Amino acid sequence: MTSISTPAGSDFADYTTLQMELRGLLHGERDWLANLANASALLYMRLPQLNWVGFYLWRGGELVLGPFQGKPACIRIQRGKGVCGSAAARRETLVVANVHEFPGHIACDPASASEIVLPLELAGRQFGVLDLDAPVKARFDQTDREGIEALVDILLQGTDWPSDIGESIVD
Ligand code: SME
Repeated sequence: MTSISTPAGSDFADYTTLQMELRGLLHGERDWLANLANASALLYMRLPQLNWVGFYLWRGGELVLGPFQGKPACIRIQRGKGVCGSAAARRETLVVANVHEFPGHIACDPASASEIVLPLELAGRQFGVLDLDAPVKARFDQTDREGIEALVDILLQGTDWPSDIGESIVD
């Protein structure tokens, strides 16, 4: 496994390195809970200027809080609500430069100023979303979007998902 020993946000090199580190963490392990927990910890540790990273997972028809790093957060989000529910419903990554200008934004932490939310989709199922919050406006650019989308792909490919998490994608 890749050695990770430096403090939060101090040494972000590039997304290629981060992808190698995630592959290292997932190597030989396909358990969804372990992999999502470690993925959220890796992102929170490596990416500067974040105040929250975590997953919301489809369970029983709503997005329910999953593994995360940061302050305690809102637990349940309905389809189409907030940035998370909107990204899930639209089935696309949402980059929000100023959360206070996003209609219906759900403020779990008043410190959050910008946000990126990525749907987790594989083989006709959407498992939930990955949400990253930042305490500064316009924290996430196109490089972050592409880099984090690649990380999500590694996570999806390297994880076995239980049947009670996720929903079928209806085209
Ligand atoms: N801001 C999100 C809610 C989740 S928290 O940021 C952790 C939203 O609007 O969906």
